[in-house]
Amino acid sequence: MVKAVVLGASGGIGQPLSLLCKASPLIDELALYDVVNTPGVAADLSHISSIAKISGYLPKDDGMKHALTGADICIIPAGIPRKPGMTRDDLFKINAGIVQGLIKGIAEFCPNSFILVISNPVNSTVPIAAETLKQAGVFNPKKLFGVTTLDVVRAETFVQDITGERDPSKTVIPVIGGHSGETIVPLFSQAKPTVEIPQDKYDDLVHRVQFGGDEVVKAKDGAGSATLSMAYAGFRFAERLLKASKGESGIVEPTFVYLPGIDGGDAIAKETGCDYFSVPVELGQSGAEKATNPLGNVTEKEKQLIEAAIKGLKGNIEKGVEFVKNPP
Ligand code: NAD
Ligand code: LMR
Repeated sequence: MVKAVVLGASGGIGQPLSLLCKASPLIDELALYDVVNTPGVAADLSHISSIAKISGYLPKDDGMKHALTGADICIIPAGIPRKPGMTRDDLFKINAGIVQGLIKGIAEFCPNSFILVISNPVNSTVPIAAETLKQAGVFNPKKLFGVTTLDVVRAETFVQDITGERDPSKTVIPVIGGHSGETIVPLFSQAKPTVEIPQDKYDDLVHRVQFGGDEVVKAKDGAGSATLSMAYAGFRFAERLLKASKGESGIVEPTFVYLPGIDGGDAIAKETGCDYFSVPVELGQSGAEKATNPLGNVTEKEKQLIEAAIKGLKGNIEKGVEFVKNPP
């Protein structure tokens, strides 16, 4: 029996993500938590003739406790999205506290749950989550994931213009680093099957993957950022994690993790100087079972991209850690 909880379930990501979870045969019970509208969203989804039993909770009447108790997987898209002209780091002021509050609840009511953090800035909210769990004495690095799957999905989609493949999801492209601008590094040299990118198209392709989020923010013109593609990506990661946790082998997904706590991660942390980094991670029954090191086999251009990513990431990570260790 699998109980999933979506925290921020009434939002632009939360609603379609909850729909995908409700439709999934992998989930038996689905709890929706938000500060608004969850009774309505839950009532709506409850008419769908799928397996998951659904319930909606608000903060009143111990709602967080009831939503989280017994959870196996918590997915967090709670928090404000960008408007044109903003960076993801501009969201820190508000979202840092929101994520910390939700993680405190998880630490208290379902400390053994998988935790998938979608809320931005991911490069900082994941360290906030880790430090909060550490303070509560329940941090398990194998169970905390920053969701960077949308970058992978974008890389697969945008390279299709070059490959001409009918189904873009069949091209596997590791995307490493973090989740904002230059910290996002697609490794097209490691694509499977191999992809030949014409030199005159490479820089634009990398830029589009790194700044795909801005494309959507601009097109939505003040009405928020990516929601539907993010719900797809968040569910894709959750589904693969659940399959791996049920014993399916060979599932590897890039995700932003605390490297020193994962098999194979220590060496990558030493090489990059970053404790948190997105790398392809082998998923298994206990969660993040093995971090694979993609750094040894990169092109000169990718090396430069990785250096720029590391520079940006260090400050983002430190900001998250400090927020918990030395509260403002
Ligand atoms: P949204 O404003 O539509 O929804 C956010 C929801 O969070 C709202 O329903 C709000 O009521 C809820 N919320 C706020 N505070 C809460 C709290 N304390 N507890 C529970 N719920 C709370 O925003 P959105 O478009 O769904 O985006 C959500 C977040 O996801 C943003 O921070 C955005 O930047 C981020 N995001 C991340 C990725 C990624 O790739 N990781 C992609 C897209 C968006
Ligand atoms: C994205 O990549 O679409 C998200 O991180 C949302 C954003 O702010 O761009």
